[in-house]
Amino acid sequence: MKYGYFDDQTREYVITNPRTPVKWINYVGTLGFGGFVDHTGGLLLCKGDPALNRITKYIPQLPGSQFKGHTLYLRKRSSQGTQIFSPLFVPTLDAYDRFECRVGLGYSHFNTEFHGIKSEIRVFVPTGEAILVQEISLTNLSAEPVELDAVPLLEYTHFDALKQFMNADWVPQTMMSEVHDDGEGRKILSQFAFMNRDQRQTYFTANVKVSSFETDRRVFLGDNEYGTFQRPLSLNGPELSNSLALRGDNIAALLLPLGTLAPGETKRFVTLLTQQEGTRSESLTRARALFEKYRSHDAVTAARAAIGAEWDEYLGRVQVNTPDASMNSMLNVHNPRQCYMTKNWSRDLSLYQLGFGGRGIGFRDSSQDVMGVMSAMPEEARELIEKLLSVMKINGSAMHQFYASTMVANEGDSREAEDRPKFYGDDHLWIVFAVCSYLKETGNLSFLERVLPYYEKDKHGAPREQGTVQNHLERALEFTKTNVGRHGLPLLGFADWNDTVNLKTGAESLFVANQYGKALLDMIELCEFRGERALADRYRADYDHMRGLVNEYAWDGEWYVRYFDHDGSPIGSKKNAQGQIWTNGQSWPVISGFAPRDRAERALESVNRLLNTPNGIKLSAPGYDGFDPAKGGVTTYPPGAKENGGIFLHANPWVMIAETLVGNGDRAFEYYNQINPAAKNDVIDTYECEPYVYAQNILGNEHPLFGLARNSWLSGTASWTYQVGTKHILGVMPGYGGLEINPCIPKAWNGFSVRRQFRGARYAIEVSNPDHVSKGVRKLVVDGVAIAGNVIPAFDDNRLHTVEVTLGAVAAVGEEAAQ
Ligand code: NOJ
Repeated sequence: MKYGYFDDQTREYVITNPRTPVKWINYVGTLGFGGFVDHTGGLLLCKGDPALNRITKYIPQLPGSQFKGHTLYLRKRSSQGTQIFSPLFVPTLDAYDRFECRVGLGYSHFNTEFHGIKSEIRVFVPTGEAILVQEISLTNLSAEPVELDAVPLLEYTHFDALKQFMNADWVPQTMMSEVHDDGEGRKILSQFAFMNRDQRQTYFTANVKVSSFETDRRVFLGDNEYGTFQRPLSLNGPELSNSLALRGDNIAALLLPLGTLAPGETKRFVTLLTQQEGTRSESLTRARALFEKYRSHDAVTAARAAIGAEWDEYLGRVQVNTPDASMNSMLNVHNPRQCYMTKNWSRDLSLYQLGFGGRGIGFRDSSQDVMGVMSAMPEEARELIEKLLSVMKINGSAMHQFYASTMVANEGDSREAEDRPKFYGDDHLWIVFAVCSYLKETGNLSFLERVLPYYEKDKHGAPREQGTVQNHLERALEFTKTNVGRHGLPLLGFADWNDTVNLKTGAESLFVANQYGKALLDMIELCEFRGERALADRYRADYDHMRGLVNEYAWDGEWYVRYFDHDGSPIGSKKNAQGQIWTNGQSWPVISGFAPRDRAERALESVNRLLNTPNGIKLSAPGYDGFDPAKGGVTTYPPGAKENGGIFLHANPWVMIAETLVGNGDRAFEYYNQINPAAKNDVIDTYECEPYVYAQNILGNEHPLFGLARNSWLSGTASWTYQVGTKHILGVMPGYGGLEINPCIPKAWNGFSVRRQFRGARYAIEVSNPDHVSKGVRKLVVDGVAIAGNVIPAFDDNRLHTVEVTLGAVAAVGEEAAQ
């Protein structure tokens, strides 16, 4: 293992070499108060909105060696002289004897040894609290006594994250610091922008004596900032200068004299960072109360244990045991954790999504993200679904994105193109899947009657119209039905799922056509379950109509085309020199059931032949080789990168779903495994990103850097790979009438097991595969009693039920794809 390993026992990934190819991060807290911490202790923290209330200054574009937002310095004096170093490696970059960053659930735990000092640093945000806690314990490993000072350091940013970088006149003149005494010799440093002086302040302190402090970066680094974070000149003197920064670049550095540590002796302390609202005295009072609470090591330990218990609860809803260790690591811990983060952060804040206000919560993104947490936290998913439904428009389309703190929505990038439609062809249809997924998980069909607003407001700011959830879904389908182009296929709008193909007004999208087909199937199933026959019949007629059009116009001989341009010419056809075949053009006709069996198989074979690589399936081929404003953003990338023929991982699980629908479990798993980050150890120097989360994209084989991943964490890949793994490969799928069991696995597997909670009961499901098939439930035994079909009833009795499933040859294998 080059940079680390999975510790399944502790549910951590353990980084043992800090020189990872790029920073590997972890999230702490939530959008309410939180951010990310990188594996060398760098910290990006914000409260409420990363664009409007950013706290620490983290510049991802700086080299890995540079200080970013936070570090801890230690100053050790012994008979060997004085050594100043960071136990986090950055920014002092000292030789270490041991380095461990344990990427945990809701915390990072650093366990390092430098210069004879063992440091343990745990970073986390207690649940529901606006405070970052760092628990630090330092042990003298040497054979002689040492004097130790600790200097925790933060660098603040202006609260308006973008202005920090755009205005070097105004910003520095507004930054202010103050110092307060807590009455027991401990200092509390505060920081605020002048205009917010009486609205909110940020406070930093420690639970041990502070002998001096610094709040001005210039003074801390020394020599008019020709001192560096690697060797800050102020640490050469006995004390810091107690400067109060009244402008400029604000920091918070506390000098904590820990005294003498005898050989083997350990000293512990806690640092605390909060931001509180109110006037200066109100916010200080609130901060003091919070500091009072977390000054105690017992309170800190209890808060840490509480986080662990919450993750037990979250992850305990679904646990799997398959013959594949990497799949187990991902499905039991890391993939659902990533789903939680995408649901929480949408595409707002990561090393790649910089949270400057360009994105906020994406309608399509979050509609897909909620499905990734549905089994674990359906009611939290519903809360986000309600927000999403509230930014749908009266005509059934959706606003492209919105800001969670204000609920103000906008039309995304389409705002910049005056001559182009202001809707995205796909956005509103995702919400149909999200709502149906919630209904199936919970059985709470009364949610359909809940009345929610549409986005448009009257002149008083009140919603102009509202409707039930069901009404929202019906309007979504109606919008697509009535916004069609020259072939009768759905209009692309500004873009569909592929944001970067922006064709002239009038272009049609086969992705949307198929997505519409799947949304109709979901609605037909729902209507039939509810006994709404007339509506079901209407939707079935719409389904048959669209299915006919897709097969009449879009079949290209070996695969389906992807778009029709405004003039009716195909994109994604053998007639095209570049962009001939597109992955989503093939997976979705299978998912929608539009593709007849022979076309489904041929289209998927074409994907395998023309788009698959050992690192994943490319989005299209061949890539466009040159900028073409008529195609849009896709041609801004070189061939093989991102949406231009790159391996766009979000689209890979849709091919896996399609393969399971045609019963090809070996191939579905091969595709699953080839993008599993947990299986990337041997190629990690090429791959570069974290092995414990999915990335958004990997450079494709047309690119010289084939295999290099980027944009980890906040990607729809998380939700869909989790759904594929649990619902389509392992085949435990919530339905209206109960838990449907329909695995599609590699033939070589002898079986697997799943433990799952579902609507108030627990199920221990053992699947055996004596005939070595991929698909087909031959026998289902629930609590010792054989039952017909493949649906386990929803018992809702708070009990554990044993389920034995035997796979074997059955007549109808794979038939559902061949409707
Ligand atoms: C990333 C965006 O967040 C997502 O909305 C989009 O579907 C994909 N890129 C593909 O363009």
